[in-house]
Amino acid sequence: MFETLKKATLDKIFVLMAEYAADPRDGKIDLGVGVYKDPGNNTPIMSAVKKAEQRILDTAKTKTYKGVVGNKEFSSAIVDLALGGVVDKSRIRTVNGAGGTGALMILLQVLGRARPGGRIFISEPTWPNHIPLAENAGLEVNYYPYFNTTTRGVDFDAMLKVLDDLTSDDIVLLHGCCHNPTGANLTNAQWDKVVESLKRTGAFPLVDLAYLGFGDGLEADAYGVRKVASSLPESLIAFSASKNFGLYRERAGVAIAIAKDSETADVVSSQMQNIIRGTISQTPDHGAEVVRVILEDKELRAEWEAELTEMRERMKRLRVKLADAIRQRSNSKDFDFIAEHSGMFSLLGLPEDVVTKLKLDDAIYMINDSRINVAGIPEDRVGELADKLLAAVR
Ligand code: LMR
Repeated sequence: MFETLKKATLDKIFVLMAEYAADPRDGKIDLGVGVYKDPGNNTPIMSAVKKAEQRILDTAKTKTYKGVVGNKEFSSAIVDLALGGVVDKSRIRTVNGAGGTGALMILLQVLGRARPGGRIFISEPTWPNHIPLAENAGLEVNYYPYFNTTTRGVDFDAMLKVLDDLTSDDIVLLHGCCHNPTGANLTNAQWDKVVESLKRTGAFPLVDLAYLGFGDGLEADAYGVRKVASSLPESLIAFSASKNFGLYRERAGVAIAIAKDSETADVVSSQMQNIIRGTISQTPDHGAEVVRVILEDKELRAEWEAELTEMRERMKRLRVKLADAIRQRSNSKDFDFIAEHSGMFSLLGLPEDVVTKLKLDDAIYMINDSRINVAGIPEDRVGELADKLLAAVR
């Protein structure tokens, strides 16, 4: 049977995570996979999550099926969190996804059914998993330029030029905030222009919202997705609770469909449910229920927001510290962009051989495109990290 198979390519992020775990060296530094790290280098369970889990443990009476759409109260709380009431609910339908990736899978499969073989335009560069997810849905992957490797900011003119040439049969995948891998993000004025372009061309937006609250705050980070959802007749949004609730392995996400009217929304909902039933039948509920409990309870919600704020501020502080340390040592502003970026990542722009050398010689792990997870910067060893980065690029 298996003789017809070739070895498949595994995702570089999780290959690196396993390499890091297997590295026996003391003092190794993990700037790879996008998980939050506290000052002790742990990825903690948030305190609001622990309390919600305890409450669920104490009160839950059954583990019977929820139904194909999943935990409706969770979805509804996420719609409120992400969209803040900018779209009439009669046009919105939701299903739970197994994490943000599961939500993306469902939405891309819907698009694959709506436009078999259709073109999807994805930012260059992007999160590597976007590509197989789109291809598995039968879509043709194309790219729009996104990152200016000289300024380390968004190459907005180049991006817009490609978007302006799209047609109403095309799909555009947008990172809602905290762009992965670059860390460079659209300003509100640039979001406005992207939405104007989509209005003009009729190209269809799918927003990947995996890091809400990790950039400038829950409200500020929602500007783009709310602009898209409120200005265009139809759009899709994949929400992940993996990072902002620290629920990575629990796979909590929501696929949100906004259609031009309620009738069309029902059709999209039936497609989403059909895709879930024909693949995983039901989505996991534990993480979804944890988020529901937190968002529906005033105190737990306040506690979660405070923890999220602390995480965001810590990542911002680490950005500034690393940029300062490199500037002081090199007398140049070449790495100041680290402090200007936002979210969990920055793309350093190092050649792949330098990234490999840092891993082999210094046990410093980053993705081979030189993406770093800023939460992994060891606060008490920033100077040492700056020295090693500078030595490697010289
Ligand atoms: C990352 O980009 O490192 C995270 O989103 C983890 C993942 O699923 O790739």
